[in-house]
Amino acid sequence: MNPAVVTIDGPSGAGKGTISRALAGRLGWHLLDSGALYRLVAFAGLQQGLAADDRAGHTRLAQALDSRFGARADGTELIELQGVDVTQGIRSEASGMGASRIAAWPELRSALLARQQAFAQPPGLVADGRDMGTVVFPTAPLKIFLMATPEERALRRYKQLKGKDSGVSLAALSREIAARDRRDATRPVAPLVPAGDAVVIDSTGLSVAEVVERVWRLGGERGLWQK
Ligand code: DC
Repeated sequence: MNPAVVTIDGPSGAGKGTISRALAGRLGWHLLDSGALYRLVAFAGLQQGLAADDRAGHTRLAQALDSRFGARADGTELIELQGVDVTQGIRSEASGMGASRIAAWPELRSALLARQQAFAQPPGLVADGRDMGTVVFPTAPLKIFLMATPEERALRRYKQLKGKDSGVSLAALSREIAARDRRDATRPVAPLVPAGDAVVIDSTGLSVAEVVERVWRLGGERGLWQK
């Protein structure tokens, strides 16, 4: 039997990462942060000095990506690229913008597909991304599309980055979020749209606990876990 998969898709800053982590933690399930894979490829490309439009070069990087998702002794996230800790590095706006750009290339998305599907292991998987419910796990029994207003998302990202990426302003972030939304939603392959059978949750004004509770109730109603 295939392990159960819950997909959580939506635009950047909607809270997918936080909600997915909380849900996976509560269930003791695996977690796929698919955006981190795109960020890793973009980061590796920047490190190797690849031209931003080098499709073949980035696709080769995606095919051969030597990454590891783990946890530190204190339980915090650890992401490694060729054995080097890049957990912080891939969260920069440069890596995020790069990820959004390379994510528009179909051959690069294909190169990452099997790697993402391999995360579906017992007892279950919470998959966070843009096309988890539409492309990567189309038969998932629970699909969530998490959104929030652009203003709220820019503010959340600002608070997240403060202290990590010092040169960043709220106005610049709002502009970048709008640009990335546009690119992610209008690209010809795997555009950011809710799956036909996804449940849309607007997280504007909701706490993390409130959103997790809604997802928890939905999964319980579908028999994915005990309510
Ligand atoms: O979720 P994130 O901000 O870490 O994702 C970075 C970029 O990667 C995002 O702008 C779009 C792309 N992405 C994608 O195209 N498909 C996914 N499943 C996840 C991310």
